[in-house]
Amino acid sequence: MKMTDFSMIHLPAVEKEIVSFLSEYTSDESLKESMIYSIHAGGKRIRPLLILSTVTAFNEKIDRTTYQVAAALEMVHTYSLIHDDLPAMDNDDLRRGKPTNHKVYGEALAILAGDGLLTSAFQLLSMTRLDDSPKLLLLQQLAINAGTQGMVAGQAADVKGETQQLSLEELKFIHERKTGRLMHYALLAGGILANQPEEVLTYLQKIANHLGLAFQIRDDLFDIVSTTETLGKTVGKDAKMGKATYPQLIGLKETKMALKHEIAAANTVIDQLEKTVCSFDGELLRQVIQQFGA
Ligand code: IPE
Ligand code: IPE
Ligand code: MG
Ligand code: MG
Ligand code: MG
Repeated sequence: MKMTDFSMIHLPAVEKEIVSFLSEYTSDESLKESMIYSIHAGGKRIRPLLILSTVTAFNEKIDRTTYQVAAALEMVHTYSLIHDDLPAMDNDDLRRGKPTNHKVYGEALAILAGDGLLTSAFQLLSMTRLDDSPKLLLLQQLAINAGTQGMVAGQAADVKGETQQLSLEELKFIHERKTGRLMHYALLAGGILANQPEEVLTYLQKIANHLGLAFQIRDDLFDIVSTTETLGKTVGKDAKMGKATYPQLIGLKETKMALKHEIAAANTVIDQLEKTVCSFDGELLRQVIQQFGA
C-alpha cells in the first residue's frame, strides 16, 4: 500500500481518539480548547505512522487499541512541542503553520495544556483493552522514553547547550534523547502490539536509534535550508538562539552526509529484520523513512 493511502485511512482515526478522549475527560473548557487547538493544528504525525507501520509490517491487524496507543504518543509529542515553544524555552511564535499555543491562550494555559496532554496520554493508555502485561510495558516504556532519561533529559541538555560549544558526541546525546526517544517508543510499541519477542524488539530499537537521530539532523538542516511556509515554523531560529545543531557544528555538507548515513543505516537494519523474520515486511516503514530524507 502507498503511504499516502495508508495515512488517509488511519490517521483520522488516531486524531479522533485524541479529540474524543480530551473532550470526554477534560472538565475545564478553556483547557480543552487549548489542547485540541494544538492537536488540530496538524503536524506530520510521523510517530503514529511509525507505530501503525510497524504493526502492519508484522502482518498484524490495526484495531482501536493500536489507534489509542498511537494517539497517546502523539499527545506526548504535542505536549513536548507546546512546552518547547514557550518563551522560557525556544520562544517560538509559529507551530504547525499556526500561532503557537501560548500566543493564542497565554503562557499559563499553554503550560497546563502540555501538562494535560502528557497526563491524559497515560490515562488513555491505561484504559486500552490490552492484557495487563503488554499494557504495563507500554506505560512503563512511555514514561522511560518521554521522561527524565528520555525526551525531557534531552530537552534539559538542549537548553544547557545554548551557552556552550558542544562536541559531536554531546550533540548526539541531546538529539538521541530529545527526539530519538519518542521514535524509539514508536517502534517498540509497534513491536509490543504485534507480540514480538525480545530479539525482534532489539532490532526495532536499532532501526529507531538511526531514525531518531536522522529526524533531528533533518530538523536542524531544514531550519537553515527550508522556508517558514513549508515548515510551518519560523526558520533560522536555531542560529538566532545559539542552539547546538548539526550544521552549526559540522557544516551543511557534512550534515547532509550524516543524514544520508543514518537513513541508510536504518534501512540496512530493516533489510536484516526481513531476512531474520520471514513474516516481516518493511515496505511501509521504508516509505515513512523516505520522508526523513533531505
Ligand atoms: C518537531 O517534530 C520536533 C522534533 C522533535 C524535531 P515534528 O517535525 O514531528 O513535528 P510535527 O508533529 O510534524 O509538527
Ligand atoms: C524539539 O527540538 C524537540 C522536542 C522535544 C520538542 P526543536 O526545538 O529543534 O524542535 P522544533 O524545531 O522547535 O520543532
Ligand atoms: Mg527546542
Ligand atoms: Mg524548538
Ligand atoms: Mg528544530
